[in-house]
Amino acid sequence: MEITIRTTDHPKPKPDESKLGFGTHFTDHMFNMDYTSDLGWHNPRIEPYAPFVLDPATMVLHYGQGIFEGMKAYHAGQDGIQLFRPRDNFNRLNYSARKLCMPEIDVDLALKALKALLGVEKQWVPKAAGTSLYIRPTMIATDPFLGVRASYTYRFFIILSPVGAYYAEGFNPIKILVTREHVRAVRGGVGDTKTMGNYAASLLAGKKAAEAGYTQVLWLDGVEQKYVEEVGSMNIFFVINNELITPELSGSILPGITRNSVLQLARQWGMTVSERKLTIDEVLEAHQTGMLTEVFGSGTAAVISPVGELKYENHVLSIGDGKVGPMAQKFFDAITDIQYGRAEDALGWIEPAV
Ligand SMILES: Cc1ncc(COP(=O)(O)O)c(C=O)c1O
Repeated sequence: MEITIRTTDHPKPKPDESKLGFGTHFTDHMFNMDYTSDLGWHNPRIEPYAPFVLDPATMVLHYGQGIFEGMKAYHAGQDGIQLFRPRDNFNRLNYSARKLCMPEIDVDLALKALKALLGVEKQWVPKAAGTSLYIRPTMIATDPFLGVRASYTYRFFIILSPVGAYYAEGFNPIKILVTREHVRAVRGGVGDTKTMGNYAASLLAGKKAAEAGYTQVLWLDGVEQKYVEEVGSMNIFFVINNELITPELSGSILPGITRNSVLQLARQWGMTVSERKLTIDEVLEAHQTGMLTEVFGSGTAAVISPVGELKYENHVLSIGDGKVGPMAQKFFDAITDIQYGRAEDALGWIEPAV
């Protein structure tokens, strides 16, 4: 399928790279493509970034039939602009699409569209240390219809945002509140997809955590509220007695691409690695016996986020004296070195973007 390109006559000034923040600046162009049951996906096009005009009855606005992805393009010096495991993101988008009764997208076409968009927007990939271009592919249900069923029409779009650090703390330990009052996802639900409602459902717990002085919430499983699942919008890792443990993919956890990268590296480095059920009581006990040496989150936005404090009911667990632990540092360095082209891509994770 040919992608048509229409460029803007009014390019925006580029933001100051030292003050990017996260998700507030958007580039000059976007990719759009439409789906109808008779034509399938059609009219792939790059055009000036612009608001949508939507019928107030548009189904995504009512029933939340919408999914998205999050990935990044990195400026890699002489090597140009690089993507990190983009096919995994588009495959995960298709997994989300299947679970939300939405049409899948050809991964090669999605990648071609993204590269074409990056070709137009390459000046928007920031160069300052720690910055990148965040990529947000999104699919929404567009039938103007009230009534619960899958839409017959969809829009797929990609927008780009130059970003700096996700957390105000930067690469410094964050404080996490373990909640039993709220759950993020349940067995048999859509916790393993990137569907919009999962994030809306997480807001109240996040707000309460922020009011109590915590950056994120650690979610326990939705059935027994016993097992650790994820933290905010990241996967979570614990180092207990030199074993690297992350909750197994149970169906209610998002299968993070950073999580998978950490696991692959850890196995390559010969570490003892477990994807298994982990109770919050085991974490407490490991802390009491001095065996819990590190906790960190993993995700595209922050890559690795060390956790310096966990609060669970009336227990306050201080981890690693509030400093970045050696494992968190090692994974952060190894992954970001590959992303920015400073280290060899031995695992085949890099895709040249332009
Ligand atoms: C709920 C949730 N868990 C985990 C992750 C981490 O996934 P990834 O490493 O693919 O960014 C994300 C972010 O995408 C997320 O939204």
